[in-house]
Amino acid sequence: MQNDLPHNPYKSNIMLQFCLQYMVKERFNMLDKKVTLNTLRAKKGKEKIVAITAYDALMAKIFDGEVDVILVGDSLKMSFGGESETLRASLDEMIYHTKAVCRGTQYSFVLGDMPFGTYATKKMALKNALKYYKECNVDAIKIEVDSKKVGIVKALCEEGIAVMAHIGLKPQFMRFEGGFKVKGKNAIEEQELIESSLAMQEAGAFGILCEGIKANVAQKITESLQIPTIGIGAGVHCDGQVLVWSDTFGFFDSFKPKFVRRYCNGKDILKNALHSYVSDVKNGLFPNDNESY
Ligand code: KIV
Repeated sequence: MQNDLPHNPYKSNIMLQFCLQYMVKERFNMLDKKVTLNTLRAKKGKEKIVAITAYDALMAKIFDGEVDVILVGDSLKMSFGGESETLRASLDEMIYHTKAVCRGTQYSFVLGDMPFGTYATKKMALKNALKYYKECNVDAIKIEVDSKKVGIVKALCEEGIAVMAHIGLKPQFMRFEGGFKVKGKNAIEEQELIESSLAMQEAGAFGILCEGIKANVAQKITESLQIPTIGIGAGVHCDGQVLVWSDTFGFFDSFKPKFVRRYCNGKDILKNALHSYVSDVKNGLFPNDNESY
């Protein structure tokens, strides 16, 4: 049936206003839900922070809004690059992956990871972190530090770059330290960890990532700081936890560190689905008429 009613400009105007109001409301709802530095700070001592890694837009879209923080870690070199360490990650590679994650993320806080050798001096750190920060839409960056690197953290924060200080087991130092070493096992290490985290807070870091630290020491660090701690292999007392996604969902099974809990057996699930696909193609069952033009 034809619509013979005359065009009603008043009605179109109301519709337009309605649509605009809806769009503005949606935009504010989105901003409301976006995790910011303030959201993370406010969670300290009240609500646990949940973080997971992602290296592409596909996974970022799945995790977005479900976790507080998405970390684009240089662990991608190991879990996805098949390497035995993270040291060969380059700034350009990190920028490529971080851009992809940012494209897939609307709500979660995106934390980029500065690769090995890109923040060895203040000058170098500033140049590379500014490039990373400007080219990607990251909310903050993470660097692996000890008390000797306080000046670098301070210099970055003074330029307006939000920094998370990664202490304890630092994968980028594994060659230097002769392997992945858990920290906080003696009084000297404990003192260094507590003092360096306090110094990082003083230098302006918004949070501390505690990796591979004895649980009782990570607890002391967490309790002595006003800024949040996120742990990985550092016990339950940190303000939050992070895991590498392929460990969490059982896709990476070359080895399983003690601190990893697998929440599903992703590799088997995927393999079974793959076997069905292979079998359907081989038996002429895929594609069917509905899947053909
Ligand atoms: O690169 C990474 O994914 C990390 C986590 C292990 C914390 O630094």
